[in-house]
Amino acid sequence: MSSNIAIFASGGGSNALEIIRRFKESRSGDKVALLVANKHGIGALAHAEAHGVPTEVVPGSVLKNDPGQLLELLRRHRIDFIALAGFLAMVPAEVTREFSGRMVNIHPSLLPQYGGKGMYGERVHRAVLNDGRTETGITIHRVNEIYDDGEIIFQAKTTIDPGETLESLKAKIQKLEHSNYPKVIEACLKKLKP
Ligand code: GRF
Repeated sequence: MSSNIAIFASGGGSNALEIIRRFKESRSGDKVALLVANKHGIGALAHAEAHGVPTEVVPGSVLKNDPGQLLELLRRHRIDFIALAGFLAMVPAEVTREFSGRMVNIHPSLLPQYGGKGMYGERVHRAVLNDGRTETGITIHRVNEIYDDGEIIFQAKTTIDPGETLESLKAKIQKLEHSNYPKVIEACLKKLKP
């Protein structure tokens, strides 16, 4: 049985693009069947459109006040699995419950360090650099109703070298994310198969 994946994104969508590419080439039959954005005009939407992936924009007000709309959308596209990739809005509890064990997120630090509300993007890397850390990394975890709190399923580390800058660190982390997130999603889907 093949799975339909939905990616949720709020930004440039470099991870979304890597996931879309990986599953286009996959022989498993699993595919990215939907990209959900919480705002118009973002790079993630452009990447999905360029690859023929259906897109939907679900604004924060709908996520908060009418989560049933999102559930309905996911059902309509027969979504089996959700990958959050830089999605900055809170996923409604109705959705995290329905997709329990079938939803993952990627975070650009070694959780539980540098996670939680307000800790995203460059803020994470700045905090890590300010603290004089010698290593950081990425975490892929299951999603529950609390930010960055679900079971950790994968981590990869990288060193912080003397003279490391925000830009160089961002590039290192992005490379780690791109080379691991699609693979980890693939492994999760394999485990769900009977
Ligand atoms: C990534 O660093 C990811 O870890 C975090 O948001 C960022 C998304 O980047 N959750 P992009 O939009 O995929 O380029």
